[in-house]
Amino acid sequence: MAIERTLSIIKPDGLKSHVIGKVISRFEEKGLKPVAIRLQQLSQTEAEGFYAVHKARPFFKDLVSFMISGPVVLMVLEGENAVLANREIMGATDPKKADKGTIRADFAKSIDQNTVHGSDSLENAKNEIAYFFRETEIQTYSA
Ligand code: PPS
Repeated sequence: MAIERTLSIIKPDGLKSHVIGKVISRFEEKGLKPVAIRLQQLSQTEAEGFYAVHKARPFFKDLVSFMISGPVVLMVLEGENAVLANREIMGATDPKKADKGTIRADFAKSIDQNTVHGSDSLENAKNEIAYFFRETEIQTYSA
């Protein structure tokens, strides 16, 4: 099994509904270790840059507005197959379609306020981590 790193974001709705601790517990309970964490208010430019790949999609403006509507928690998670494991713990993009017991099924209100972001491939994870974190901000520690 490969040890990977992935980028996780707890979105503004997750902070407003006070589930930061519960979300992080879900990751830790499944062996994904936060190795970098920062609370940050994204600027419009930062959010547009982060979601640039979705620029042509009809929801782009709403997605950016939502992501700057309040602070987010930026995290690097490390663990076995972290990219896929994180996506499984998060559940489907639309909380109505997410499996019970996933973060989105349990905490998210709607597809446009779906509590968490997770990188969707190892290559994107590397780019997304580098977008928000310097290597010196990422720590390692063993169990
Ligand atoms: S995914 O998870 O990337 O495969 O999903 P995708 O459908 O490609 O969506 C990309 C991101 O856009 C968000 N999204 C939306 N935001 C606002 N309104 C609507 N209708 C909407 N549909 C999708 C979705 O949550 C994804 O955000 P991230 O932060 O990548 O999870």
